[in-house]
Amino acid sequence: MGISLGLVGLGAFGSEFADLFMSHPLVDRIGLCDLQPERMRRFADKPEWQAKLSPNDLHPSLDAICDSDLDALVIITQHWLHAPQAVQALEAGKHVYSAVPVISIPDADEILEWCNRLVRTVETTGLHYMLGETTYYRPETMYCRKRAAGGDFGHFVYAEGEYLHDVDAHCNLRDVRQHRLASGAGAEWLAMEEAYRARGVKNGPMHYPTHSTSGPISVMGAHPVSVVAWGYENRTNDPYFADSAFSNETALFLMSNGATMRICEYRDIGHPEREIFRVYGTEGSFENGTWTDRYTTTPLTVEEMREPLPEEVAAAFEATAGESYYGGHGGSHAFLVHEFVDAIAHDRMPAINVWESVRYMAAGAVAHKSALQGGERLDVPDWGDAPTK
Ligand SMILES: NC(=O)c1ccc[n+]([C@@H]2O[C@H](COP(=O)([O-])OP(=O)(O)OC[C@H]3O[C@@H](n4cnc5c(N)ncnc54)[C@H](O)[C@@H]3O)[C@@H](O)[C@H]2O)c1
Repeated sequence: MGISLGLVGLGAFGSEFADLFMSHPLVDRIGLCDLQPERMRRFADKPEWQAKLSPNDLHPSLDAICDSDLDALVIITQHWLHAPQAVQALEAGKHVYSAVPVISIPDADEILEWCNRLVRTVETTGLHYMLGETTYYRPETMYCRKRAAGGDFGHFVYAEGEYLHDVDAHCNLRDVRQHRLASGAGAEWLAMEEAYRARGVKNGPMHYPTHSTSGPISVMGAHPVSVVAWGYENRTNDPYFADSAFSNETALFLMSNGATMRICEYRDIGHPEREIFRVYGTEGSFENGTWTDRYTTTPLTVEEMREPLPEEVAAAFEATAGESYYGGHGGSHAFLVHEFVDAIAHDRMPAINVWESVRYMAAGAVAHKSALQGGERLDVPDWGDAPTK
């Protein structure tokens, strides 16, 4: 039997997922929700949406859609809203998919509190939470998890993850910020930012860490235990970084499997945008799209690394979204949609469940705290593995 779900937040990123969620064969009914009604109309008026969307399922706010009888909500709103909105939706009885990160706000301790609250809310409600981390379903990550499951890395020794996204890169972060602030939710956030400023709380790029941490963490199946990190202070008085202690942050983690993990989150860097990870083991290693061991080096194609989607799902996506239905961020969008819908429809644990998600987030929050303390070694909290049933 199929499920019903509501899409909350149909801005730039949410719009990239809407057709995929609507067309998934296990979605029987779909609802829409945005504070800006014209953003819902772009989908509500499409002929191919009519079979699954009724006019009663257009909701003007999160509060309204939480009162509906939809099974699940897909939250793709601004980054400071994710965790509070996810908790609200779970408490209203909805399964939740959240865009990354778990939450991004200036105060690292508050981030950790939200991680804790999210885990506790999933535990008490018994509902599912999944983080829409695009890196998790890049072909490279899928391939490495498969090799890791087969034991091909041997013992993990070292891994590194990087998210290099200069503020003036092709996807310009100044424009993105202006776009996300140009709304009612944006105006509320400006007031909240002012309160952090008054308290002297300084942000940093490690508060958006999930693209760089999720590759090594999910491939090794290990969690960070402790961290030392350092920050690079912007030297051009760039107003974009006025509320940040650092514009680049580099962290070194001791992992629960004894390996070392190096993470770079850079926003002030003369380099094209790059999201990449490399993993090294005693028997085999993966770097830059290549599998290697002591004697051989095997460059891999996307097709060799990517896992297939079920045929009927791929066909439904292709019929609605066209040949390039895999979507952006390494073709991860289609896999994220399928994983969430399939997990909810079969009442099984989503791959990027809450216990996994908070590992990606807490790593960054504590790294930022370490950087603020000049590289002090700090313990990283962990909420354990997902329950097996
Ligand atoms: N690779 C990735 O995983 C990736 C890439 C881009 C963006 N993102 C994440 O996606 C998120 C959204 O980005 P965007 O560019 O689409 O932002 P956006 O500002 O274009 O869209 C956010 C939408 O949420 C709506 N919204 C906010 N509060 C709401 C509420 N209470 N009820 C209903 N609607 C509400 C807003 O009206 C807006 O339309 C960001 O938080 C970002 O972190 C992730």
